[in-house]
Amino acid sequence: MTDETAKMILNGQEYELPVMKATAGPDVIDIRKLYAQSDAFTFDPGFTSTASCESDLTFIDGGKGVLLHRGYPIGQLAEQATFMETAYLLLNASLPTQNELDGFNHTITNHTMLHEQLAKFFSGFRRDAHPMAIMCGVVGALSAFYHDSTDINDPEHRKISSHRLIAKMPTIAAMAYKYSMGQPFVYPDNSLSYTGNFLRMTFGVPAEEYVVDPVVERAMDRIFILHADHEQNASTSTVRLAGSSGANPFACIAAGIACLWGPAHGGANEAALNMLHEIGTVDRIPEYIARAKDKNDPFRLMGFGHRVYKNYDPRATVMQKTAAEVLEKLGVSDPIFDVAKELEQIALNDPYFVEKKLYPNVDFYSGVILSAIGFPTEMFTALFALARTVGWVAQWNEMISDPGQKIGRPRQLYTGPTERDFVPINQR
Ligand code: CMC
Repeated sequence: MTDETAKMILNGQEYELPVMKATAGPDVIDIRKLYAQSDAFTFDPGFTSTASCESDLTFIDGGKGVLLHRGYPIGQLAEQATFMETAYLLLNASLPTQNELDGFNHTITNHTMLHEQLAKFFSGFRRDAHPMAIMCGVVGALSAFYHDSTDINDPEHRKISSHRLIAKMPTIAAMAYKYSMGQPFVYPDNSLSYTGNFLRMTFGVPAEEYVVDPVVERAMDRIFILHADHEQNASTSTVRLAGSSGANPFACIAAGIACLWGPAHGGANEAALNMLHEIGTVDRIPEYIARAKDKNDPFRLMGFGHRVYKNYDPRATVMQKTAAEVLEKLGVSDPIFDVAKELEQIALNDPYFVEKKLYPNVDFYSGVILSAIGFPTEMFTALFALARTVGWVAQWNEMISDPGQKIGRPRQLYTGPTERDFVPINQR
């Protein structure tokens, strides 16, 4: 709290509201007692002006294009850390020592296998099922298998279930891919890194030895870092809301996966690459820019714009650089990358995008890299879910450990009919 207060006048009555101090970013007006004192609610659908919790995990300055995890800039983490180091940082608040990192890697590695019975779930899905449909179902089903870590009031249970989720997501995502391809599941190889293991489970086949390409491994690891956490976005808020009722962590993460799937959120990476393919050639860009600006056309430039960033998304900066590196190192020449770069340039110089401060976001270039690596577009959002599980789990732990935590229960502005008497059916 600060000494500062905000004053509100309603129906001639003045209310004094405490102000809470942020270490960075806007301070917050505490309205928790407002309803009890004034009998009024606040109205903020989409939470554009509402802080839903206190958090010391991730900070975003959308105006400046800054993203920090526990204070460390995302660019530095993407360049210098591994995904496992980033995961440790998010979960434990400080960067690990070598010993701590070795211990963490060992723990995660020990949880990579799935209960064999769970593998049977996959055959219940159609082969053409979207991987996100499979992920929602299978991750939710984990609660039926790991009862020994679902007591949310026990910190040790929370830790084990967090590690299980982080460890098993690559196995589940790779199995979803294998199932769609009609190929046998590849079991984890715990001698490999987190990301190397995922690549092998995805692209390896039992008939041949799979050798992890270090270029691909590093690029994939970097993509995971860039997606690890992002403050109180829609899916994270979903995880927190689901968790606020005391639901078990597997169910909460399944809820987060469901929310992430939407094209305005994690589904945008798939939609962005589909859009780039639809545009196809540089000469067709103006047509799509015109459509994006047309109020009567629902089309939007996918991978562009962000609720919080009103500047270049710092993750997009790393992603664009990584895309160029990966294509060069893999010797892939993808005309879609040229379309993406040209589209970006045209949009960034167009008054519509300039005035509305619409810049490329994390999803604009990720699809170019992922398809160069060999992933089909339907897998893109599943990869986002895999990486974001770290953030979801860290945020969920933070929420449960907060003594001030309450069930999330928003109110509404009611605009329906006032009370009236029921009319029997023969009199209507
Ligand atoms: N193309 C064209 N116009 C746009 C776009 C776009 N991509 N994004 C926003 N606008 C316009 C929008 O029409 C509105 O115009 P007006 O003020 O004239 O009505 C204005 O910009 C503000 O947009 P908004 O929808 O009110 O902003 P929002 O904060 O509610 O939405 C967003 C943010 C990310 C949903 C939106 O920018 C969007 O739909 N972008 C495309 C989808 C996308 O790339 N999503 C990934 C986000 S980053 C990764 C993640 O979060 O998962």
